[in-house]
Amino acid sequence: MNTINEIKKYWDKQAETLGTSPLATMPDLYLKELEIENIQKFLFDGAIVADIGCGNGFSTFQYALHNRITIIGIDYSEEMIKQAKKQLLNQNIDCQRNIEFCVGDITKLNLKPEYFDIVITNRCLINLTSLEDQVLAVNEIYKILRPNGLYLMCEDCQQELKNLNLLRYKVELPEIKMRWHNLYIDEEKLFNLTKCLFKRDQTINFSSFYYVASRIINGKIAAEQGETPKYDSDINRIARMISSDTNFGGYGPLKLFALVKIAERERERERERERGKIKSYKSAKSLQKFYYKKHFPNKVIYYQNNLKGGNLL
Ligand SMILES: C[S@@+](CC[C@H](N)C(=O)[O-])C[C@H]1O[C@@H](n2cnc3c(N)ncnc32)[C@H](O)[C@@H]1O
Repeated sequence: MNTINEIKKYWDKQAETLGTSPLATMPDLYLKELEIENIQKFLFDGAIVADIGCGNGFSTFQYALHNRITIIGIDYSEEMIKQAKKQLLNQNIDCQRNIEFCVGDITKLNLKPEYFDIVITNRCLINLTSLEDQVLAVNEIYKILRPNGLYLMCEDCQQELKNLNLLRYKVELPEIKMRWHNLYIDEEKLFNLTKCLFKRDQTINFSSFYYVASRIINGKIAAEQGETPKYDSDINRIARMISSDTNFGGYGPLKLFALVKIAERERERERERERGKIKSYKSAKSLQKFYYKKHFPNKVIYYQNNLKGGNLL
């Protein structure tokens, strides 16, 4: 069992070894470009943004340098934040004014409630060791977003990894396993447990084409030549160019979900509706009546005795 402490130590070490390089948090730089590019599509002028699990801030700087936003980068690794702050000193005054970094844990955020327009997590939730902690983190994000605020969840998902491995199996490549410090998102379970907090607005499979090209085609060619596949191969480079505008298939574990915070008032109304339903749903017949009344309020209702037939005439 990987403890949070071991995972945190791993990230501290990455920062110590690789400093401000983007490689500290992602070995595949074309994939990194793709995730940044896709997240940026949702940023808008004037937005107050939190980038949680920001690492050494490489992506945070990209967001801030190409958009008129105010952004705070947060990470539980003191070493990562040290690197981010070091890099901040090399930026111009304007940039320094709009960016801040601080140490913090996504499962216990100590930030102003309902303050942010946008919260980003880019491969941060996958470093938590259980579904419960991932749900806890989403709850923390809910608290700091303003009503109708946007949560950009860019995380690796279990189902797409399975799909990718099925393709690899077909071309006789070994399975890609999750890294020891990762727990990919179980999309169905996580969204089910947080559906009262966020409405899913968009799901972007931005990495699917890239994964097929890099992990299947490039991987297979390298294997046939007895080599280790290279992240900076020509196939990957071209796949990255094409991937900018492709959103197909389910073979890329890394996905971007655009989630809109459901305001507290709306949630309360939903709860009331649920309570109302529970009271009125005494039998299948009354359930049928409920729906019929809702859709055809002015009609007289006749029931068939046999509910299996289910027709309201
Ligand atoms: C894969 S890296 C991604 C970094 C950055 N978002 C990027 O796009 O390059 C994951 C980062 O999440 C941070 N992290 C992991 N668990 C965290 C937690 N509980 N709270 C805050 N940061 C966390 C790690 O320290 C690491 O810097």
